[in-house]
Amino acid sequence: MAYPNRYQAKHLAILGFVASIASAVTFWGVSLKSESYIGGFHPYLNQAQAGYQIDHGKNPIRNREFYLIMMGSSILMAGLILSADDGAGNALIDLRPDAFRKDFAETAIITGQIFNESLGTAIAGGLSWAVLRGKKTAEVVWLNTAPAQVKTALEKKTLAVTWLKEFLKAPHAWIAGRTRAGKTFLMLWILKEILKADSNVELRIWDIHYLKPDPVTGRKNDWMRLPRSYVQRKPEDIMAAFLAEDEELERRKELGINKPKRIILIDELNSTAKACNGGKGKDGEFSRLLAKFLYESAGYGWKFLLSGQALAVGEADISEDTRRNMALAICGDDAADSDALLRLSKSKAKELAQEAGTLLKQKVRVACVQIPGRGATIQVIPDLSMAPTWEIKTKQPQDADLAWWKSIWTSEKKQWLETLAYRFVAGEIKSPLKEEVCQGFGVPYGPRSPRYARFVADAWRNAVEIAKQRLEKDEE
Ligand SMILES: Nc1ncnc2c1ncn2[C@@H]1O[C@H](COP(=O)(O)OP(=O)(O)OP(=O)(O)O)[C@@H](O)[C@H]1O
Ligand SMILES: [Mg+2]
Repeated sequence: MAYPNRYQAKHLAILGFVASIASAVTFWGVSLKSESYIGGFHPYLNQAQAGYQIDHGKNPIRNREFYLIMMGSSILMAGLILSADDGAGNALIDLRPDAFRKDFAETAIITGQIFNESLGTAIAGGLSWAVLRGKKTAEVVWLNTAPAQVKTALEKKTLAVTWLKEFLKAPHAWIAGRTRAGKTFLMLWILKEILKADSNVELRIWDIHYLKPDPVTGRKNDWMRLPRSYVQRKPEDIMAAFLAEDEELERRKELGINKPKRIILIDELNSTAKACNGGKGKDGEFSRLLAKFLYESAGYGWKFLLSGQALAVGEADISEDTRRNMALAICGDDAADSDALLRLSKSKAKELAQEAGTLLKQKVRVACVQIPGRGATIQVIPDLSMAPTWEIKTKQPQDADLAWWKSIWTSEKKQWLETLAYRFVAGEIKSPLKEEVCQGFGVPYGPRSPRYARFVADAWRNAVEIAKQRLEKDEE
């Protein structure tokens, strides 16, 4: 069947008719729609988060009448086309079903051809334009007009994790700030990040306020549910633990080893030093050991994480030298106090305090941070309100003796032991326990031999019981 490849009057009429009906439907649809509007566009800034907020709303569409009139006109147009004739008295649109179906199909085919041609032309044109312009991709442009303060907060927020990474590269870290400045929360974050990066560390926490309820929230800090045995609370226990660390340090020096890594976290350094020094101030044992450790221990695998009220610790006075090699952070309101910042930067203290003050006013948590070899900067501390839900999971230390017993206590071994026991019960041999049995298991005999006391002795007793029963049966 041959199709015409151009429109005749009847095809145009059908096209017009369909278009009119389609427009009428569209206008009707639009007249029912509501319209969204943007009512406000304002920056917001809350706890370490900044951005824009846009108010949206919806109204029933304005000028509804206009669309209804357009709909009416389209219907009228469709009616006119239906009733139009070719001037010779023949209707343009033949409404008899067979004729209409054929004309409609032809219209669709011609339209499709014309559409394809136009599309091809447009694509070819577009391509040659692009080639001529030498463009391969669309360009991307950025709008960067956030108000200055919002921008610093935004930028700093994205940098929050970066600064902590750098902060933790220093051998030891010290966090200062008044009560409720967020020192402990910051410690939780630090600890989490350290363990995320490397879980093969020996962690010790010395916290004289362990499990003391927070005066405001009532929450007790349990160091992310760390088992109790990792934490020392009493000054005498802390002191004993410190002396044990000292022994370990000497041992490592002797052997020249620096593994495994040891993390010692001392929360509330000032009060701890005071309680542990026994009234001797910085000549006390605790302060003496602390100075030694901060000075020498990093090379043997230690990392100290300290928190205290201020960097000037009368009791545990840390030399300027030592402090220069530590990562320091002054959190909370003190970060906006230029006097407090003098210890970090004499020349920039005022400027830094001002920057911190601006952020604090916007309810952003900040710290003045110093990383060895770099100038002090103001950094944002992210929202850590989830910190109390974090959890440190500890692996049980391997029970080496149990593992040994499981590997050696095979059915052959059991049979061998029961045979020996039977011969012993039957009076064939004297007790083989001390020699043959212990040799068979490769353990020394006696209650002070842990493998013997825990496993071998029991196994022998059982074997003897079984042998006695068997012997009775055999004698019956
Ligand atoms: N980064 C943070 N994000 C959200 N909340 C925080 C953050 N830091 C601290 N807080 C809130 O402030 C309170 C006090 O923080 P934190 O206990 O860490 O202070 P602190 O400096 O250790 O005080 P103290 O000297 O009394 O031990 C916390 O209970 C917590 O609700
Ligand atoms: Mg605290």
